[in-house]
Amino acid sequence: MIYFEKVRFKNFGSFGNTYTEVNLEKSPMTLVSGNNGHGKSFALLDSITFALFGKPFRKINIPQLVNSINQKDCSVELTFRINENKYKIVRGLKPKIFEIYKDDNLIDQHAKAKDYQKMLEEQIIRMNYKSFTQVVILGSSSFVPFMQLTAADRREVIEDILDINIFSTMNTLLKEKIAALKEEMKENDRKRDIAVSKIEMQKSHIKTLEEKSKKSIDDFDIRITESMCEQNLLQEKSNQSVEVIDGLLKTVDDKDSVSVKIGMFERLITQVENKQTRYEKQLDAVRGKNTCGECGQKIPQEMIDNMVGDTEEKLNELNSGLTEMTTELNKLLSRNEEINEVLVNVQTLQKELNELNGKINASNQHIRNLQKMREQVSSDTDSIDEENEKLNSYMEDAETIQKERRQLVGMGDSYAVAYSLLKDSGIKSKIIKHYLPIINKLINHYLTSMDFFAQFHLDEEFNETIKSRHRDAFSYMSFSEGEKLRIDLSLLLAWREIARLKNSANCNLLILDEVFDSSLDGMGTDEFMKLLHSLGKKCNIFVISHKADHLADKFPVMMGFEKKGHFSRIVK
Ligand SMILES: Nc1ncnc2c1ncn2[C@@H]1O[C@H](COP(=O)(O)OP(=O)(O)O)[C@@H](O)[C@H]1O
Ligand SMILES: [Mg+2]
Repeated sequence: MIYFEKVRFKNFGSFGNTYTEVNLEKSPMTLVSGNNGHGKSFALLDSITFALFGKPFRKINIPQLVNSINQKDCSVELTFRINENKYKIVRGLKPKIFEIYKDDNLIDQHAKAKDYQKMLEEQIIRMNYKSFTQVVILGSSSFVPFMQLTAADRREVIEDILDINIFSTMNTLLKEKIAALKEEMKENDRKRDIAVSKIEMQKSHIKTLEEKSKKSIDDFDIRITESMCEQNLLQEKSNQSVEVIDGLLKTVDDKDSVSVKIGMFERLITQVENKQTRYEKQLDAVRGKNTCGECGQKIPQEMIDNMVGDTEEKLNELNSGLTEMTTELNKLLSRNEEINEVLVNVQTLQKELNELNGKINASNQHIRNLQKMREQVSSDTDSIDEENEKLNSYMEDAETIQKERRQLVGMGDSYAVAYSLLKDSGIKSKIIKHYLPIINKLINHYLTSMDFFAQFHLDEEFNETIKSRHRDAFSYMSFSEGEKLRIDLSLLLAWREIARLKNSANCNLLILDEVFDSSLDGMGTDEFMKLLHSLGKKCNIFVISHKADHLADKFPVMMGFEKKGHFSRIVK
């Protein structure tokens, strides 16, 4: 509950350069009198709305509030209490001032003026301009009765009075969040698309690499196998060749002994031939001579014959030995020839074998090279492993994005639930539904108190139907000014009562600007005065009238305004 204490102002509207102060708590009922144009509305309506909301109650521009004669130093100060705290708002024009004091301390002004105002409305007075004017002010000029507000404004006022506008604020925030979430979803979609195409590309890249590598390994395997087959054939040939050579060499293993024997026989034959020559010379010498060469004596024939016989015998022996030996030597020589033929063969074969072995060595080298190259190719799968690792990290990224998406979807679900609760047909509509019968009951109660016998009904869309006895349904506009005023009064009192119940837009002030001067007839006035009295001591009611005389006896306290010279002032 807000208790407004006092408002003071200078150079404000028709008021001059010295402060005029209005004590707002002086009496539960105050009659404010003064002729038309003497400054009553400036003093009580515009001053307070200007202090609270930075704008006048009447429909003029803000600069027009500055006193037109002094043209500067326009200032309004409003003091009030909420719970134990005292507040003062200072607003000025020329120069521009906006200050809020809590318990004499200036509240931090770092914020922008707009946010400072927001803080004042949302955190301190917890009322906005619309709900304040609907609950505090009833007046003929500039006042827009609830019934003449648009559906949206009616909703705003009722939500404020029911203190449920927090749901609207939450709804606005929620809508922002939903919009942000949509953006995040879009971004997530984009990231997911990129991740998926990255994975697909990587997979096909790896497939190509694998196919390439497998093909070249297979190629090497085939070439190695072919080379090994070839090599086996060569080896077999080589083995066979070695066997043949060994076999041949075995057939000539007498080679050395044959050549030794040939040497021996040749030497023997030479010796025998030498002996033969010697014997033949002896024989020639014996046959041609019959005397001894030394002694000159004649040699007997017999003796010569014996000697010839002996020598011839020896010669014969030698001859036959020589023949045998020659036969034997010839045998050996032809054997030797055979052996040499075989050896020439062996030599040819050996040459071929060497060539074969050379080929085998070369083939070995070739196979080793192929194996090395195959190893290299298969170790090149390192790069495939690397690509696979890359693929894994892409997949992890995709999983993270998917996780993020699930979170976003979860959030979206929560938002959807919150949205269904916060929209107009959600919680608010439940609360409004709960209070509508109370509001209608209160309005009808006040209408009856003012002898206005009609059934007023406000529906969930805040459209009214008013049924008068024996008549069809009426709309607000079809009533007379006096009747409309009574409906407005009943609504205002109903809002005040609801505000009191909810402790929301609840305050001590009630200002009725020239309500009694025009439309309320004598009957209504008395009933309404009763109603005002019933509002209790916690209320400070100001009834502004330029025809105060017939009301004077009904009020304990009066406050008068007059215009002296060019400036308005209070008179007792
Ligand atoms: N900026 C201003 N400077 C001086 N006088 C002004 C200014 N604006 C309006 N007025 C005068 O103030 C008077 C209006 O005061 P108002 O509070 O509406 O009177 P009341 O409510 O007593 O009928 C008018 O006489 C009007 O000409
Ligand atoms: Mg006025």
